Amino acid sequence: MEDRHGHRISYLRVSITDRCNERCAYCMPGELHEWLPREGVLTFEETWRLVSIAASLGVSKVRITGGEPLTRRDVVDLVRGVANIDGIHDLGLSTNATLLPKFARDLREAGVRSVNISLDTLDRQFYARITGRDFLPQVLDGIQSAIDAGFEQIKLNCVLMRGHNEDQFAALIEFAGERGLMLRFIELMPVTTTEVLSDENFMSILHARRAIEKEFGELIPEPGFRTNGPASYYQIPNRNQRIGFIGALTNLHFCEDCNKLRLTCDGKLRPCLGSALEFDILTPMRAGASDDELRQFFLDVVDRKPLQHDFRDNYQPNRRMIAIGG
Ligand code: 5AD
Ligand code: SF4
Repeated sequence: MEDRHGHRISYLRVSITDRCNERCAYCMPGELHEWLPREGVLTFEETWRLVSIAASLGVSKVRITGGEPLTRRDVVDLVRGVANIDGIHDLGLSTNATLLPKFARDLREAGVRSVNISLDTLDRQFYARITGRDFLPQVLDGIQSAIDAGFEQIKLNCVLMRGHNEDQFAALIEFAGERGLMLRFIELMPVTTTEVLSDENFMSILHARRAIEKEFGELIPEPGFRTNGPASYYQIPNRNQRIGFIGALTNLHFCEDCNKLRLTCDGKLRPCLGSALEFDILTPMRAGASDDELRQFFLDVVDRKPLQHDFRDNYQPNRRMIAIGG
């Protein structure tokens, strides 16, 4: 699949639930959140069918997201089914790690190759404040379980929050370095603002890089190094450690190589995280659409993929991060 800007779509992010056992300030709103009714969520069979159709159109990489994907009942069976789809060669999962002590080994066996773990701080009190839950000990156990399970790659994602976690950078770098994990710093996207976080808490990746350089010396850019996404990577001098920066707001080339499409847990295809566009594929599927018709639906959605996201234009999405899957 290719859009009208020449982006070749090979990466599908699949949100399998809108539920979560945490309440991150930048992901969930402060007020009470109503979960989707069960019948509004794609079944396992429906999920597998849509991923198969995407695979037939050139998608080879899938990332399972949420909410917190590991809160979905029988998640390992769902994930195994995705891993077994013809054409899916790379399967990842994004998680808050709280449930990894229970699931890491089974997920690895089911075919998950990489896990991305949210970790904004190593300070237990701040962790509890920003996520609404005092789960840091479980999270650290979960990270160890992931290491023990032998995933090919484990990334730690730290959302930058000015005035909140800049004092954590050094500890996070040490933590990741000691364990051989890839740490990435992510600019706060203006998706949910709450009493805890507002625009004033935005910190650019440039600011974060400068702060890190004060402590670790000048970072060495690695323009040739790419994973699957829009992060830029740097070596820390004399440490043999690579860290990444995801500048959704300040990197003007952020969308240039975008290869992504998103499927929400309630069956909407989204051509871009930072755009209000979304298209309901669940309704035609449940009304009996053929594989060919669903394939055409995918192609039509990809054809509407915007050139770039709207985050810089004060865009507030029609849905909260937790319903989109990051
Ligand atoms: N801005 C930036 N990153 C976010 N995430 C969730 N909400 C936001 C936001 N508003 C991140 C989480 C997690 C990933 C799935 O998305 O920290 O690492
Ligand atoms: Fe849950 Fe992840 Fe959202 Fe936090 S960022 S509330 S852990 S889905």
